[in-house]
Amino acid sequence: MMRKVVVVTGANSGIGLALCERLLSYDDQIRLCLGCRNLQRAEAARTALLSSHPTADVSVLLVDVGKVTSVVRAAKELKERYKKVDYLYLNAGIMPNPQLSFRAFIKGLFSRNVINMFATAEGILTQKDRITEDGLQEVFETNVFGHFMLSPKHLS
Ligand SMILES: NC(=O)c1ccc[n+]([C@@H]2O[C@H](COP(=O)([O-])OP(=O)(O)OC[C@H]3O[C@@H](n4cnc5c(N)ncnc54)[C@H](OP(=O)(O)O)[C@@H]3O)[C@@H](O)[C@H]2O)c1
Repeated sequence: MMRKVVVVTGANSGIGLALCERLLSYDDQIRLCLGCRNLQRAEAARTALLSSHPTADVSVLLVDVGKVTSVVRAAKELKERYKKVDYLYLNAGIMPNPQLSFRAFIKGLFSRNVINMFATAEGILTQKDRITEDGLQEVFETNVFGHFMLSPKHLS
C-alpha cells in the first residue's frame, strides 16, 4: 500500500507542530513533510517529532509562503519528491498584533462617532502590514496568496 504523503506548512511551531504530532500519533506510516521557512526551526521540529515517533518518515521542505519565488521553487521540489501529495495543510500564517492609536482615540472622543468608537473600536485599532518584494501586502501574501500558489491546481 502506498504511504500517504502529508505536507504541512508552518509546521515548526504552534498549531502546525501540534497537528504533525497528532497525525503521527494517528498513523506513523505517513510520509510527513514539514513546510517551513527557516531550516534551523524546521530541523528542531523534525527532531522533536522523531523523538516521539523514531521510525517516522519526516522531511523538511524549505518554503516561505510570503515569497512567490520560494513557493514556486517549493512546488517544483514537491513534484520531484512525491508522485502525489495526499494531504496539504495550509497552516502557515501571520497575524500582527493590533495597536491602539492614541491619536485616533483622542480625536474620536471629541467626535460624533464616540459611542460607536467605544462599541466597536472602529478607527482606533491599527495593524502593521508591509508591502513584500512581490508588491503584495504581507499578511495577504503569507496567509492567502502564497498558499493559493501552492494549491493542487498549481502542483499538478
Ligand atoms: N492560534 C489562534 O488562535 C489562531 C486563530 C486564527 C487563525 N490562526 C491561524 O492558524 C495558523 C497557525 O496559528 P498558530 O497559532 O499556530 O501560529 P504560530 O504559532 O505563529 O505559527 C505560525 C507558523 O507559520 C509559520 N510561518 C509564518 N509565516 C511564514 C512564511 N512566510 N512562510 C512559511 N512559514 C511561515 C511560522 O514559522 P516561523 O517559526 O518561521 O515564524 C510558524 O511555524 C496561522 O495561519 C494563524 O493565522 C490561529
